[in-house]
Amino acid sequence: ILKDILAAAVAGETLDPARLAFLLELKEPGDLEALYRAAYQVKLRYIDSKVRLRGLIEVSNVCGKNCFYCGIRGGNRKVARFTMSLEEIVAAARHAAEFRYGSVVLQAGERSDPGWVDFIENAVREIKKLDGGRLGITLSLGEQSEETFRRWFDAGAHRYLLRIESSDPALYARLHPADHSYAARVESLHLLRKTGYQVGTGVMVGLPGQTTANLVHDLEFFKSLDVDMIGMGPYIVHHDTPLGRQFPDAGSDAGRQLELGLKMIAVTRLHLRNVNIASTTALQALAPNGRELGLLAGANVIMPNIGDLAYRKGYLLYENKPGTDENAGTAREKLERAVAAIGESIAYGEWGDSPHFAAR
Ligand code: 5AD
Ligand code: SF4
Repeated sequence: ILKDILAAAVAGETLDPARLAFLLELKEPGDLEALYRAAYQVKLRYIDSKVRLRGLIEVSNVCGKNCFYCGIRGGNRKVARFTMSLEEIVAAARHAAEFRYGSVVLQAGERSDPGWVDFIENAVREIKKLDGGRLGITLSLGEQSEETFRRWFDAGAHRYLLRIESSDPALYARLHPADHSYAARVESLHLLRKTGYQVGTGVMVGLPGQTTANLVHDLEFFKSLDVDMIGMGPYIVHHDTPLGRQFPDAGSDAGRQLELGLKMIAVTRLHLRNVNIASTTALQALAPNGRELGLLAGANVIMPNIGDLAYRKGYLLYENKPGTDENAGTAREKLERAVAAIGESIAYGEWGDSPHFAAR
């Protein structure tokens, strides 16, 4: 039966919820291998074996929100807050251009005060002046008004990441305070599309209380939103958070979290085919070769951190986040070797938009 499902998926058949659930519940090592292999085949068919890199700049850990799982939630008094200067941001972007990473991602906690909106608009304009405007710019700055999305888009940003975190309203409500609205988040995703961005979303997997049915719902949500990019990662506990205190042992089985993260990548590749899928840092937090395993399970994007080392430890979304003591140059060489070791290569100097967007 597994063989039939995978063959159908590789042949381009749509997977119904029952089959998605079946794949997500696979456990036997041989079955998992077959799943990852099928997803890899689909990746080769719709994309290729080149990894697209985005230089990740963690601009600020100031956040006005209080997501129950996140280490830098506004309510965590133990975090020393930082915001990079415009010069530091531009310097990091210049690094990305020198490394020929093709694009950068500006990521930060969520803020929407006018000073912040201006600051980001400026940063985007300044980055656009580098390297003949060749550097692509993705933003990951939370929910904003339509006007803000528009201003940042007009300044030169063209992709936006906004994870839905969980597409199930009930689970979403258990992960966030009452004033964080699921409906508003979905509305933001629609506004982003309307503004003209390539839109990325994603979820955390292995959350306390999350079921296979929830994950199937996530996959259907991705499909119905017709997104261009997916960024997902296993949930990793941070003990200075409400969720970490409520479920101190959740996700403590690193092997299981990693496996679930890889399965979700593979099934997403089979279900959505030609979108960009990131092999995220959270995978690497669970195993030193986690990101390579993600590539082999169907992911095609990696986001190496190119920000200033001095700030890395201030951006601990979860415990044991990797890369906090490794500069961008060393990380780049390691990544080159790791990618070559699995028989892939890096696509330097291009934006690396998803074929899904081109086909729209
Ligand atoms: N474990 C894994 N991922 C997390 N994020 C936030 N906190 C955690 C955690 N404890 C993810 C969220 C957010 C992204 C920036 O980091 O999905 O969208
Ligand atoms: Fe803020 Fe994002 Fe963390 Fe939520 S997940 S608290 S919005 S940084």
